[in-house]
Amino acid sequence: MNKIIGLVVAVVFSAGVHAGDVAKGQAKTAVCAGCHMADGNSAIPNYPKLAGQGEKYLIKQMHDFKSKKRDNATMYPMVANLSDQDIEDIAAYFSSQKIQHMAVDDQYIQIAEKLYRSGDSDRDIPACMACHGAHGIGIATAGYPAIGGQNPQYTMAALKAFRSGERANDSNEIMRDVVAKMSDKQITALAYYLAGLH
Ligand code: HEC
Ligand code: HEC
Repeated sequence: MNKIIGLVVAVVFSAGVHAGDVAKGQAKTAVCAGCHMADGNSAIPNYPKLAGQGEKYLIKQMHDFKSKKRDNATMYPMVANLSDQDIEDIAAYFSSQKIQHMAVDDQYIQIAEKLYRSGDSDRDIPACMACHGAHGIGIATAGYPAIGGQNPQYTMAALKAFRSGERANDSNEIMRDVVAKMSDKQITALAYYLAGLH
């Protein structure tokens, strides 16, 4: 009896955590594969990897593209006709995949590791680690994205878009504040460092 109650509780609990269906999500991603690859490990440098990304973050981004809060001409038509359920299923699928990390060029480690772990008080840059975790996997339940293993060209573009305000879908301007005074050199170093962080 206790065993059955335990099972029921476990099922109800996990259903609450994963609203999306991985198998149904996979079936809805044929069109995404052209740019993000079937397993979400986008091979084209400007296209972000989605593999292993937190579900909550993925769901938010798809809704933000749909509402143009994150205004992107490439992604808008991809999500415009997706239902809330489609979005949850797709997020569950990509989140269940494993991200492939890259090798890091030594020249970036010193400057980036310090920034990542301790920030830069001269430029009011907080430690990335506080929100994106020591291993770059983010905090999925808070919607803080994984940034370790990401394509460096995409990461550079994302940080510059927050800095210029072109990307403005971050709640409370959280990332726009982080990068406001970041130099191009710091952005480059961080992006290549993050590609291998895990
Ligand atoms: C023609 C290429 C292309 C296709 C097809 C495509 N995407 Fe994208 N996707 C992009 C680009 C480019 C970006 C980065 C946009 C930016 O710079 O803001 C992106 C970004 C994203 C992001 C945000 C990732 C992040 O780390 O913030 C998600 C989520 C996403 N795409 C999901 C999808 C889904 C789901 C599909 C299929 C329904 C899809 N994409 C199809 C090119 C594409
Ligand atoms: C106070 C928490 C916080 C700190 C500190 C922080 N971030 Fe973020 N970061 C976020 C949140 C939240 C988002 C998602 C914003 C959104 O909803 O689009 C994000 C998004 C990002 C993205 C975009 C991810 C993607 O896939 O598009 C990158 C890259 C990033 N952060 C890098 C950094 C770096 C590098 C640092 C340190 C210099 C840093 N962050 C510090 C909270 C933080």
